[in-house]
This record gives sequence, structure tokens and C-alpha cells, in this order.
Amino acid sequence: MSGPLQDRRVVLGVTGSIACYKAVDLASKLVQAGALVDVIMSYGATQFVTPLAFRSITHRDVVTDTYDTGSHYSIEHVELARQADIVVVAPATVHCIAKLALGLADDPLTTTVVATEAPLLVAPAMDANMFANAATQENLSRLRERGVVIAGPAPGRLASGLMGMGRLLETPELLGYISATLGRRGDLSGRTVVVSAGGTQEPIDPVRVITNNSSGKMGYAVAEAARDRGAEAILVTAPTGLPDPPLVKVVRVQTAQQMCDAVLSSMEGADALIMAAAVADYRPAGAAEQKIKKSDDALTVELAPTTDILNAARGDFVRVGFSAESENLVANASDKVRRKSLDLIVANDITEEGSGFGADTNRVVLIDRELNAEHLPLLTKYEVGNRILDRVRGLWG
Ligand code: CTP
Repeated sequence: MSGPLQDRRVVLGVTGSIACYKAVDLASKLVQAGALVDVIMSYGATQFVTPLAFRSITHRDVVTDTYDTGSHYSIEHVELARQADIVVVAPATVHCIAKLALGLADDPLTTTVVATEAPLLVAPAMDANMFANAATQENLSRLRERGVVIAGPAPGRLASGLMGMGRLLETPELLGYISATLGRRGDLSGRTVVVSAGGTQEPIDPVRVITNNSSGKMGYAVAEAARDRGAEAILVTAPTGLPDPPLVKVVRVQTAQQMCDAVLSSMEGADALIMAAAVADYRPAGAAEQKIKKSDDALTVELAPTTDILNAARGDFVRVGFSAESENLVANASDKVRRKSLDLIVANDITEEGSGFGADTNRVVLIDRELNAEHLPLLTKYEVGNRILDRVRGLWG
């Protein structure tokens, strides 16, 4: 099963920060995701972790010296620069950022950056005061103006013991940035795709809600797949507990009505709506203002229908629905295509193995306006997202 990093060539530049140990994990996850990773370390980085750590993970030589005559590359920085699909500097120190902003080339990493035409992603890691320093901020702005993607840093506890901005982003976030940056000129660039996710929550009182078993994973995966093909992805999500995907515009909502309002306002200028959310069909007619107290009597909660968001969202864009069914999959889903006048519906049988709520995989049937059904095999939710986006792209013509 292939993802966005499969067979991509990543040059990973590592500079001297205590966060170097996290770069070892990043290299490992990149390799696991199918990328070919060449690591270049600054002298400072070699004081924190050894080249052997990276070599053991990437199974490739680690570059530390511009003048290494033993290297199998004839001219290392030129070769690596030419072959790279992306150059990632993580962690990037204040000093490295300053050198990159100036275009200096006095070590193998900065020389490779100057020589490459591949996109550059810089993930700073430093103490809060060094990050806040005017020169650092100016250098980062300069890099941004040149199209360099700056990932982080994150706030939190720093190696100095102080709290502040300066932590290297965690590996999953960096992987998201790398995938998005690799795909920014992808086949969906210039398009805006709105995706909904999660199960809405309808309050009964200030403590209790009516909700459902949706994990949100399917919608998040569609949004990430759209982002990784260059689209602007807007994710309107009910509470899920999942981390925000990097470089996706995330709009947080709770109820069906809030999701409806957020989706409708996000559709301005958008090219597709993909409703992966499990939206409540009913909400308590009037949520109690105070917590309902327990008694021995039965409790009746009156439910009122919610607005059907897909039905309400009409315009010059492709409309895709989801249909999670426990029986009569194709018949029930086809009925929804007609009722909601959809361009496409993604139907899945929640009783099938690997396709239930919370799974990372899904086996779906895509049914179009003419009710043609395409049965897909068991795929990761990310791959299902890509198959849906292939169809959406076809519908754009
Ligand atoms: N949907 C929506 N607004 C709602 C309810 C559902 O936009 N108020 C969307 C869902 O996001 C999904 C599609 O409609 O993309 C189908 O949702 P589903 O709950 O399966 O269909 P319903 O029309 O609610 O039919 P039923 O619950 O009877 O199966």
C-alpha cells in the first residue's frame, strides 16, 4: 500500500541541536514510509548523535564532510541536490537558518541547499529567546518570501527548562509538512476541497450529548490526500481527538447546525464538497440549560430533525456523500444518490472486517449519478481518499 512518500528522495539535513535525537525518529519514519533518505549532518549535529545512528536506519552513507574523498558520489552536494525531491532541514539551528537566509555554502548541507532546485522545508529548533531574536525572525521571513516552507517551532518545554516557542515539531507533523510540500504542485493545485469529518455532538444538557461512533479518520485522510496533491484543503470537523493535519485549514464545530453553517460558508469559491462526517439526523428539541438531575422516572428527550447539509449545499461544485450502512449497501447508497442529487457516493458496509468505525482501512463502493458501482478493494483510508479525489477530478473535466 503506497503513501505520499513512497519512492521519494528526501535529503535530510541535521544541524546541531539537542533535538537531533528526534531527527533519528524522523529518518526512521521516512524510511518506513518508503522514502529514500540521504542524511547530511553538520559538525554540530555529530556532537549530539553519531552518523552511525542515521546510517543504521537509512542504510546509506551519511555525509558529514565536503572534502570526503571516500564518498561514492563524485561531487556530493551537486549529486544529492540534483536527485532530491525535497530538502528537509530538521532540526534547523539559528546559525543554520542565518546561513540559509544569506545563501552561504560553507558545509555539505548549505552547499546542497544552494545547489538544489527541490523545495526546501526548514524545521527550526532553538531556545525561545533565540527564536524571538529579531535577526532570526528576519531570516525566517526572508526564507518564507523565497518560498521556503517553515515548519514550526512548537511551544512547550525547552531543553533549557524554560517554557516557550522553540521545540522541533513532532515526527507525525513533520511527515505531514513533507508530504504536503512534495505535493504542492500536484494535479489538484489551484483547487479548493472542503471535507467534513467526525460525528457531530448534539447537547442534551451542558454535560451530555447525543453522538455516534465516527472516528473522523476517513475525513481527515481525504483532507490530507487533497492537500498532498496540491489542493487547498478545508476540514470542517466535529470533535475527534485527532491532531490537526498540518497545512490544512481546520474549522472546529460541535453540532450539526454549526457544521452546516461552517460548510456553507467554506463553499464560497470551493470546487468540491466531500461530506465524510457522520451528521446527526436528530438533535434534542431544546437542550436543558442546567444539568438534568437523575430521578426514578423514565426520561423522554424530544428530538427534532437537523438540516441535511448535503441537500442544503448546492452550487457550482462537485458534491460527494458518504453512506455507512449495515445492510443493503448498494441499494441504500444508490437511494441517497438520488435523494440528495449527488455526483458520487462512497458506500461502506460497517459490519465488514477492516471497514468499521475507527479502522485505518476501508473497503468502499463508489456509486455515481448514473448509479454505476465501482467496488474498490480493502485500502488505507488515505488511499480511499485518493480514489475519491481521482473521481472528483474526473468530474471537474
Ligand atoms: N448528511 C448531511 N446532513 C445531515 C445528515 C447526513 O449532509 N443532516 C450527509 C452525510 O455527511 C453523508 C450523507 O449525507 O455524506 C449520508 O448520510 P447518512 O446519515 O448515511 O444518510 P441519511 O440521509 O441521514 O440517511 P439514513 O441515516 O437514513 O441512512
